[in-house]
Amino acid sequence: MTDPYAERVRRLTALRGCDTVLAGIRPPSVAEQLHTLRAVAADDLLPDFYGEGGPVEAVEHRVAELLGTEAVAFFPTGTMAQQVAMRYGAELTGRDAVGLHPLSHPLLHERDAYAVLGGLRAVRTTNAPRNPTAEEVAALDEPIGTLMLELPLRDAGFVLPTWDELVAVVRAAREAGARVHLDGARLWESTVHLGHSLAEIAALADSTYVSFYKSLGGHSGAALAGSAELVRSARAWRHRYGGNLFQQWPAALAALAGLERELPRLAGYVAHAKLVAEALAGLPGARVHPAPPHTHQFRLWLPHPADALNDANLALAEEEKAWFIGGWRDTEVPGVSLAEVTVSAPATELDAAQVVELAERFLRRLPRT
Ligand SMILES: Cc1ncc(COP(=O)(O)O)c(C=O)c1O
Repeated sequence: MTDPYAERVRRLTALRGCDTVLAGIRPPSVAEQLHTLRAVAADDLLPDFYGEGGPVEAVEHRVAELLGTEAVAFFPTGTMAQQVAMRYGAELTGRDAVGLHPLSHPLLHERDAYAVLGGLRAVRTTNAPRNPTAEEVAALDEPIGTLMLELPLRDAGFVLPTWDELVAVVRAAREAGARVHLDGARLWESTVHLGHSLAEIAALADSTYVSFYKSLGGHSGAALAGSAELVRSARAWRHRYGGNLFQQWPAALAALAGLERELPRLAGYVAHAKLVAEALAGLPGARVHPAPPHTHQFRLWLPHPADALNDANLALAEEEKAWFIGGWRDTEVPGVSLAEVTVSAPATELDAAQVVELAERFLRRLPRT
């Protein structure tokens, strides 16, 4: 039997050793991460204490500045932050139903925490693989306390609405007496497609959650942004949920580093993702969605079994020090597999011809069918 941890270490070691990387980044070692933290910590900076002061307070201020909200609370996880936001909406409106997409993070990846811990109930907003429209929200047959919109909707292919669609769906939610919460785990890179700043997007909502360890490359952690009242209540619920950690400065410093170094580069990744997606779409039997991508992440399908694709990628990395795309999984169509592609710093070193050349080296490693 294969040991999943050993397999993971093997993949990460291979990726770290690559000279060329298309999808993802070379994972930094612990020593490299400590070096990054050291670079953003002033010599006299003191640690935080149960969520107050130090790097935690600094990151809260920075996020409040970027999102233009009255207040921000740092959270150990987005899972916790969003449960708190949904509970707050239920308390204010007296409605325990939350408008959620069937592919949203709380419905797919949180073991029903919103219901089991939060005492909330999901009303599914739409079955379409995108955020709901204003018409769909207006037509919901039961009242909801909070409408949650995931920007971008990851499990539908990192898809975003247009700005006008977003404004309209927010209006529809308010007209139905609901509050609006944004799952902005990947909000940082959504400004390009939406054509509006982080603050303009957050201003549409009552609360916004952002993540520090996805596109920003931090260790972990999240922030919940909104009014001072929301954040005061969120701090109480954070404590209740076991999220008032004695010290969180390593995660907070990594978040500050990500905001300083990675945030300004995201728009460039989004632009480059269009070129990469177009090059990949030309491979035999390939499909890309969305085309063009809305952010620096998108989905790619290839007509081969996932095991064969993962093996070919690992062999290419170990033997030629080149990483194409990992994380393939089988789909409901036999013999067709899907991967999420993230275009970040290493991919920006590759032009379209180099992407195709790398893809061809990868495809040559697949068993002949
Ligand atoms: C869209 C979305 N929302 C929420 C979360 C939860 O974040 P965390 O892992 O910090 O709990 C994730 C994490 O992958 C996510 O992708």
